[in-house]
Amino acid sequence: MSLRTPAVDYVESVSPGSGALPPRAWYASSDAKSLSLNGRWRLRVSATADAEDDAFAAEGYDARDWAEVTVPGHWVLQGDGVFGSPVYTNHLYPFPVDPPRVPTENPTGDHRRVFDLPEGWPDLSEGGFVLRFDGVESCARLWLNGTDLGEFKGSRLPHEFAVGHLLKPRGNVLAVRVHQWSAGSYLEDQDQWWLPGIFRDVTLLHRPAGGVLDFFVHASYDHVTGEGALRVDSDVDGRVTVPALGIDAATGETVTTPVRPWTAETPTLYDGELVTEGERVPLRIGFRTVELADGLIKVNGRPVLFKGVNRHEWHPETGRALDLETMRADVLLMKRHNVNAVRTSHYPPHPAFLDLCDEYGLWVIDECDLETHGFVEQDWRDNPVDDERWTPALLDRAARMVERDKNHPSVVIWSLGNEAGTGRGLTAMAEWIRGRDASRLVHYEGDVSCRDTDVYSRMYASHEEVERIGQGLDGGTHRRRELPFILCEYAHAMGNGPGGLADYQRIFEAHDRLQGAFVWEWIDHGIRHPELGYAYGGDFGEELHDGNFVCDGLLFPDRTPSPGLVEFKKVIEPVRIEGDGTGGTVRITNGYDFSDLSHLRFEFFHQVDGVPTGARALAVGPLAPGGSAEVKLPAGPDGEGDEVQWTVRALLAEDTSWAPAGHPVAWGQETVVPRAPVTVAASRRPVPDGPSLTLGPGVFDARSGALKRIGGVDVTRLRLDVWRATTDNDDGASWQDDTRYGPLWRTYGLHRMRHRLDGVEPGDDALTVRTRVAPAGRETGLRTVYRWTSDGTRLRLTVSVAPEGDWTLPLPRIGVRFGLAQASADHVQWFGGGPGEAYPDTRAASMLGWWDGSIEELQTPYVRPQENGARADVRWAELGGLRIDGDPAFWFSARRWTTEQLDAARHLTDLTPGDTVWVNLDHGQHGIGSQSCGPGPLPRYFLNAEPVEFSFVFSVTD
Ligand code: GAL
Repeated sequence: MSLRTPAVDYVESVSPGSGALPPRAWYASSDAKSLSLNGRWRLRVSATADAEDDAFAAEGYDARDWAEVTVPGHWVLQGDGVFGSPVYTNHLYPFPVDPPRVPTENPTGDHRRVFDLPEGWPDLSEGGFVLRFDGVESCARLWLNGTDLGEFKGSRLPHEFAVGHLLKPRGNVLAVRVHQWSAGSYLEDQDQWWLPGIFRDVTLLHRPAGGVLDFFVHASYDHVTGEGALRVDSDVDGRVTVPALGIDAATGETVTTPVRPWTAETPTLYDGELVTEGERVPLRIGFRTVELADGLIKVNGRPVLFKGVNRHEWHPETGRALDLETMRADVLLMKRHNVNAVRTSHYPPHPAFLDLCDEYGLWVIDECDLETHGFVEQDWRDNPVDDERWTPALLDRAARMVERDKNHPSVVIWSLGNEAGTGRGLTAMAEWIRGRDASRLVHYEGDVSCRDTDVYSRMYASHEEVERIGQGLDGGTHRRRELPFILCEYAHAMGNGPGGLADYQRIFEAHDRLQGAFVWEWIDHGIRHPELGYAYGGDFGEELHDGNFVCDGLLFPDRTPSPGLVEFKKVIEPVRIEGDGTGGTVRITNGYDFSDLSHLRFEFFHQVDGVPTGARALAVGPLAPGGSAEVKLPAGPDGEGDEVQWTVRALLAEDTSWAPAGHPVAWGQETVVPRAPVTVAASRRPVPDGPSLTLGPGVFDARSGALKRIGGVDVTRLRLDVWRATTDNDDGASWQDDTRYGPLWRTYGLHRMRHRLDGVEPGDDALTVRTRVAPAGRETGLRTVYRWTSDGTRLRLTVSVAPEGDWTLPLPRIGVRFGLAQASADHVQWFGGGPGEAYPDTRAASMLGWWDGSIEELQTPYVRPQENGARADVRWAELGGLRIDGDPAFWFSARRWTTEQLDAARHLTDLTPGDTVWVNLDHGQHGIGSQSCGPGPLPRYFLNAEPVEFSFVFSVTD
């Protein structure tokens, strides 16, 4: 017996819906009217799908006491929680898995909007009228003027309904009932917030008699002849014009003419028009041919290398409801960071985003709105993609994506979905897509046999495995062995990281079969929160959640680039600028797939102890793709005892649509004269002075040997430090059974090391303090000797560390930590790597120079606080009246809280400045890796527990 109300049976039906028009291309007409129904709508949220009847859809219904919300929008992100809260799960369904049934508690938002037809609209008898919904999560039923029009599922896909027979000039009542959960939710188990609502545009379109219905622009490019072929198939006959090419042809007719091709690097679009008897529709035509040839993805005859990102739609206040400027900001940020490809993980984006990709130039993998990841918990049993009852819904989703987006030159690959196991439904989708559009390739990661796909695709494979795949030594089905390879996800950008990008890039560039990769992911999905700064999973009291796994992007939630994006930009730069070790020659290599270098200008400068000597132009020829040249550099200064580097930068020569002239695209740097060693003559002896000992400018506690002061600068608790606030990548993902050092470090007690004093030994020319640093409960320890010497004005500390016992794990860091009084230490300058943070496997973008910043500016605001902000290769740093020279160079960080406070914080708002600035001078840091989802750091970035010795020279600045 069913207790459900028959009126809401559709919610739990596997059917994609009823009443909608067939899917078609998305376009904006030049002359047919359209009316945006975005804006303020009335809203009533009920706890269950059938709590209310459909009386609210009636014309006379009085909804004046309902709340108001903004459409497009998610109701859980409006009204300060009165309409419910967001829920974040990675792959678990947040409800019992019993497809297609959903919980009785099914938040249901009744939306209501009254509208008039604007002045000057055509008479209602002229042609038809269509209501278009670009995205509603997860299931909607709609009524116009009291008449039921049908219902639909497929949250990030468009749905249109014919409404001409129901419209009135004035007082139209559009009622939309939106259910948070539906059978469709089983197909939408992407790793993101569950956010119900009408989150994309709602539009009323006039469809004039004789107007355009659906059309398919076929625009290919023959790289041998240099000719483009254009054919526009249209449901309604008409003419196609492209003035710049002199084209005026009938629909269905093929025209061939010389063209400039479209590529992501050279996104040439030709403006055209499709004209039918009743309508004119603008076309933006890009000629390009995508094919699988010689086992490679080729565009216009050349293999491409994807330097990509996975982009979810996200805004910290409006969720997946994005305005055009936010979409444009994403595209501009991608272009400015050398990104050339985007996978629309894991659903078709707002259609305007694809217009921007066409215009600015990005390769797009357009992914269908399909993921059934939660079924992995039951070994994929009952997976909808392998159950033919669901196949119509899957085919409906494939068709809605392909039909909507088929006219975008940027879309080169269709993706069937993400993490949906394998099954007949996916095969049916692939077959349908191939039948409809043979001009693009098909992608799906989840099927390692590649039965349905044209590309072998994986996620988070290790460097070693990718190398094997590149060499063709990975085996697999015969079909797979013939296919090119991409990593549709890699380099999990959660928190500090991802590490290892440069190592991946070297591998991709070494093997033709490897055609690039897409970082997971573009932006942190933090939700702006009044108390927490940015909220993540669990902050809304969810029953099941996956914490800050939803904050794993290259951008912070407010779209500020994280150090990960700066690193990515450097690693994927399309021009390689490398020294040959002589200091006099630079090798420039063109890494573009299609462009020469004529759009760039090159400049170089020398710097002496970090101070640039003035930039000059460097002549580099245009260089064809793949080409390289050696360019002689003018001789530099000899340094006179200082260190000298040259830097060469490639800058945009002219303004482009995405960045102004002078925008830096690539750079290289080489040290020509190395740094002279720092020496301090040990000419002073420690002198007892009551309870203290003095040594040059240093004042020490006579009993403990602890440093108290250097000149007039108070110093507290200077001692060996091996702990860092574990990063998301240190902690690793809970499901990983291989070694995860964050938890192991805690098990070993590296966060609670004790310091035993073994001896304070004033000598003739040094003060030696002997200690053993070790955690309670373990025999492992670090014999640590601090040796202080002075020449009278400077104080040199040499730290020697010898591990004891059976160290089976690397250290998080090794160096010293000390505190300085807050008031004096608010600004730092240093000569070393910068301007941003760097770690052993995230240091490609760290440029040697003379940098400065406030303590605040040295912090990287990861949404979940963790180790951050280290500057690499620091020769010297100054803060709080002290200068510190490293021997060798060191890792520098400084913050207004302790590592322990940083480690304990869950949100940035938990961190409050104390009265001390804590400074870390590190000899070593453990690598970062990508283990929050993928592999850990490569072994060469491990900070193994080994005997080490390192020194710092302290002096007082004026
Ligand atoms: C992948 C998945 C993404 C995301 C990522 C981890 O398995 O496709 O949606 O969950 O892992 O952040």
